Amino acid sequence: MTAQDTSPGASRAPASEETSRAPASEETSRAPASEDTSRAPASEETSRATLRIALLGCGSVGSQVARLLREQAGDLAVRTGARLELAGIAVRRPAYPRDAGIDRTLLTSDAMELATRPDIDIVVEVIGGIEPARSLLLAAMKAGKSVVTANKALLAENGAEVHGAAREHGADLYYEAAVAGAIPLLRPLRESLAGDAVRRVLGIVNGTTNYILDRMDSSGAGFTEALEEAQSMGYAEADPTADVEGFDAAAKAAILAGLAFHTAVTAADVHREGITDVTTADMASARALDCVVKLLAICERSDGGVSVRVHPAMIPRSHPLASVGGAYNAVFVEAESAGRLMFYGAGAGGTPTASAVLGDIVAVARNRLAGTRGPDASTYAALPVMPMGETLTRYHVSLDVADRPGVLAQVADAFARHGVSIRAARQEARGADAQLIIVSHQARDAALAATVSELESLGVVRAVASVMRVEGEEGPS
Ligand SMILES: NC(=O)c1ccc[n+]([C@@H]2O[C@H](COP(=O)([O-])OP(=O)(O)OC[C@H]3O[C@@H](n4cnc5c(N)ncnc54)[C@H](OP(=O)(O)O)[C@@H]3O)[C@@H](O)[C@H]2O)c1
Repeated sequence: MTAQDTSPGASRAPASEETSRAPASEETSRAPASEDTSRAPASEETSRATLRIALLGCGSVGSQVARLLREQAGDLAVRTGARLELAGIAVRRPAYPRDAGIDRTLLTSDAMELATRPDIDIVVEVIGGIEPARSLLLAAMKAGKSVVTANKALLAENGAEVHGAAREHGADLYYEAAVAGAIPLLRPLRESLAGDAVRRVLGIVNGTTNYILDRMDSSGAGFTEALEEAQSMGYAEADPTADVEGFDAAAKAAILAGLAFHTAVTAADVHREGITDVTTADMASARALDCVVKLLAICERSDGGVSVRVHPAMIPRSHPLASVGGAYNAVFVEAESAGRLMFYGAGAGGTPTASAVLGDIVAVARNRLAGTRGPDASTYAALPVMPMGETLTRYHVSLDVADRPGVLAQVADAFARHGVSIRAARQEARGADAQLIIVSHQARDAALAATVSELESLGVVRAVASVMRVEGEEGPS
């Protein structure tokens, strides 16, 4: 029998008995003493308050949140200072088979009723997508609930609205799980680095694309083959668009940039390129330069404002992000005083993501008991988001060229005409296989793109075999 099972009427407590914002002292009287599967001494439990949780969604993440709430009830109660009671679970299909540990009497298909029920203190949204998640969270905050969500899409698209509602209603809004799954990243940005100035956030925030690129690098597979393998291993969805086209990473980049630079950034502000155009020629070029190709989320602060972008890029194999393999995530944060910090771990998966959700639940529960709320995501800096063309990048270009004197000079002229200086150039192979490999210095992305367009029309260039941006301090030479 679960903790919830033994709770007399836990899911059916009459609304009138509860005030959702009741201070801890008022809650004490309804804290049942003997229910936890707790490792905490029973004596510590007797006077503990109860906070009631509505779980919206019981899929990959939600089912693990329910399990952890059940299995760790005792420890969570001690750490939080209140007993955390799962009081209801909203799903789309209540009759659908669930994990054995799920108390089916808690299931409902009426998420709105559950999210606004007067006896609920904390609403945990793990449905995903914009609607009904948006309406549910807005209604929950209006009704005085603290909110925890893992919903990157909603925060990246409607962040201003949901943050505004949290402020208006004095509600907590926590979303650690929305970016990089289990990795504690948003709280360090929002709290630990609140006294510093973040200059740059650079990371691998999508495990599916990292797995695919890793396979392309290690096995020589093409994109389609690597994607099919990722799908068969369960690392990619049947419809992989959100991952491979960079939408998922762009949503996360928007959230990271907003927190890092105290500026409202939406997914639409993010320059996005996916990995579907990454070819085996690109991978070969990267290998030849002792680089790897990664889909990077890059958020930078510059004099002109902030730039936020997601695109594949070459990074040197010596760069710490180069060794992030499989479906793992890693994020570099560079701050003026702290210097470089790296966060690494499981970026997805039901249980790792549930860990981040549980951390948020404990945080909002503590705030609730203390009658306070956590720090807001501030947007006071209101920096402009720069267009991609204005962003400083470096390019690697591989050209199939005619093998004759003067080719390098014509190619170098094309770079010079757009004000782009060349960091390194070398010719590989001879005759019909002749290739010219150029790595530029930093220049405006628009100038680099215009240079590549001109190269495509040069008579001495038979084909532009590979074009890719280069990141990582040392870079290839
Ligand atoms: N999975 C991960 O590794 C991961 C990692 C980081 C963040 N996240 C985020 O976590 C959230 C949940 O992801 P997930 O993978 O757990 O999704 P999921 O497995 O698809 O589960 C979604 C759940 O929401 C329920 N649901 C759907 N529509 C509903 C509605 N209208 N009313 C009530 N319930 C509804 C579904 O009910 P049924 O069970 O009846 O279908 C299901 O239980 C998303 O925002 C996602 O981006 C996920």
